[in-house]
Amino acid sequence: MSTSRILARSLRSLPASPTLTSSPRSFSIKSTSRKIINSPRSCAVFSSSALRPFSTSQIQRHGHITPPKPGEELYVTFIDKEEKEHRIAVSAGDNLLDIAQANDLEMEGACGGSCACSTCHVIVLDEEYYDKMPEPEDDENDMLDLAFGLTETSRLGCQVVMTKELDGLRVKLPSMTRNLQASDFK
Ligand code: FES
Repeated sequence: MSTSRILARSLRSLPASPTLTSSPRSFSIKSTSRKIINSPRSCAVFSSSALRPFSTSQIQRHGHITPPKPGEELYVTFIDKEEKEHRIAVSAGDNLLDIAQANDLEMEGACGGSCACSTCHVIVLDEEYYDKMPEPEDDENDMLDLAFGLTETSRLGCQVVMTKELDGLRVKLPSMTRNLQASDFK
């Protein structure tokens, strides 16, 4: 059936005296119970109750981590801004940013782990563990230079990947991070 015939049939089934509004690309009939939307591609009748309000999804912030297999857990402890300790069992291969976000710890990770910000700054508490980590690359050092409260054992959480050698690692979240893009100081 042609679009115009479907439309004509729909119009006939509407209550009497609706208000008609039109524009070059669409028109609708305002009534308490029905709306007709017409476009070159479609012609459909919607009841008011079928129309859903516009909505957006929440931004996905959680990191993607692999749950550790029994017997293969590694442990990392985060000390948050309130000095509260969070000891978490993790898998080798996960980085500190993903681990923190997956456990709802306050680590922003503004660049999504691409080493282009300093909002995942962590302070490694034991020098012994700091020395076990691979040296930071130039990119990481450049970003660390922008970090608030830089220390001798600072690292970017997104660049620290858990390994067996780092089992028992303890890191502190700095009291503030600096997000230059948003000029956001926390
Ligand atoms: S999340 Fe931006 S550098 Fe780590």
